[in-house]
Amino acid sequence: MASKKEETKQKAKEKEAKEEVVEEAEEEAEEEKEETPLDKYKKAGEVASKIREHLKEMVKPGVKALDLCETADKMIAEAGMKPAFPLNVSVNNHCAHYTSPWEDELVLKKSDVVKIDVGVQYEGFIADTALTVAFNDVHNDLIKASREATETAVKVIRAGGYTGKIGDLIENIIEGYGFTTIKDLSGHLLLPYRVHGPKTIPNVSGRKGNLILQDEAYAIETFASTGSGESHSDRTKLYIVRLAEGRFPLRTDAAKQVRRLIDKEYHRLPVATRWIYKELGVAKAKMGIRELVQAGALYQYHVLADKSDAYVSQHEHTVYLTPEGPIKTT
Ligand code: CO
Repeated sequence: MASKKEETKQKAKEKEAKEEVVEEAEEEAEEEKEETPLDKYKKAGEVASKIREHLKEMVKPGVKALDLCETADKMIAEAGMKPAFPLNVSVNNHCAHYTSPWEDELVLKKSDVVKIDVGVQYEGFIADTALTVAFNDVHNDLIKASREATETAVKVIRAGGYTGKIGDLIENIIEGYGFTTIKDLSGHLLLPYRVHGPKTIPNVSGRKGNLILQDEAYAIETFASTGSGESHSDRTKLYIVRLAEGRFPLRTDAAKQVRRLIDKEYHRLPVATRWIYKELGVAKAKMGIRELVQAGALYQYHVLADKSDAYVSQHEHTVYLTPEGPIKTT
């Protein structure tokens, strides 16, 4: 047995050791607190879903598309996040890439089929989610078709599988309702600060597609159309752009300012021309964008539409692939 003095020494040593253990535990907790990519995808997803549900309630005949877009912008900023792309408001035959231009007067009508597509990013980790609202019951099946296709795809996607199999399923469901899918639009791999990664989830059958890997995130979006399923781009409607990769010599100060603004705030993500108008003023923004387009320095997202009398529905969710299966983040 140790003497009293020895005991005190021993106790002090033990105390030291204990403190070390506590410190180590604290350090470990600190490490644990560090956010994983999945945590970040979830954070962005929470905000995107909240905005989607808020806008779903806001979409009514008489509402301006611009009010929807500005509400999304505001809610993203209030959440301390950034847009992954501008809110898409696609009415009737429009499939994608319509966001309100500067001073947009577009007002929703009772006969409209309205798609809203929300993109939020948190430190580059993206949530991409969409739904469709109509005010006339004749469109119920159209809406059900894309909702069911997306919800089914979100449940069955697995690491180790091929995206083509999901395309078979999607087309089967949508054609089962008597509609066509929009063939050249697809779900897409999400990468940090990149909405469209190099892998896609087709909306048509018969493709092999890409191998799905664990820890990847995908936006699964399906479309049902009463039209042909062929979407064409309307070259007169350019409301969303992004910086192209590469170096492009620019002449005017306006063009340089536009490029600097996009680069600083949005990296290589899609931006609304109205954001640039708002920041730099109409004249400068217009001039700068025109030169950037001419120089090939901007990738252009023209509005995509099926034939003019068609109605299109869309639903979209983001999923993250764990070894145990998919986690829907939106
Ligand atoms: Co998407």
